[in-house]
Amino acid sequence: MLQMKRRDGGKRVWAAMLMLAAATQLTACGWAGGQRTSVTLVPGGDPGAGREAIRRYGCTSCHVVPGIQAAEAHVGPPLHDFAKRSYIGGVAPNTTANLILWIQSPQAISEQTAMPPLGVSEEEARDMAAYLYTLD
Ligand code: HEC
Repeated sequence: MLQMKRRDGGKRVWAAMLMLAAATQLTACGWAGGQRTSVTLVPGGDPGAGREAIRRYGCTSCHVVPGIQAAEAHVGPPLHDFAKRSYIGGVAPNTTANLILWIQSPQAISEQTAMPPLGVSEEEARDMAAYLYTLD
């Protein structure tokens, strides 16, 4: 994408931007060999508000979350490097849509998971996803 922007003029760039806007998630550089190489941008998500919501909902009572000070808890996996993870809960591909669903309703993705639903709204889950994808 970045190379294309540099070399080509208006039309190609617009087409690329429209394609990006249509996608459910935006990545600054996309995928390389199946691994995330850069921060995923969540459309409509506010990482700052997400960080605050993660703190407010007490996600840190089970997870270590970089950037949020709390007593160290290891009930769930630490969420550092989350943007680089391939799967959520070991079962669902790590996409924005799956992450938002997971945060709101983990059992919708993995019936047996020990993570409880916490009554997070879709907007809050989107913000939380935006924050978690800054962790890479
Ligand atoms: C009561 C403990 C608990 C709370 C509270 C909790 N989680 Fe979890 N979370 C877990 C457990 C346990 C797992 C592992 C689930 C699995 O693999 O089935 C998990 C998994 C996850 C994962 C997937 C991690 C991975 O690498 O697969 C994310 C993302 C996540 N939680 C985010 C959150 C967020 C955001 C909140 C707050 C809204 C939260 N969790 C609150 C226990 C919790």
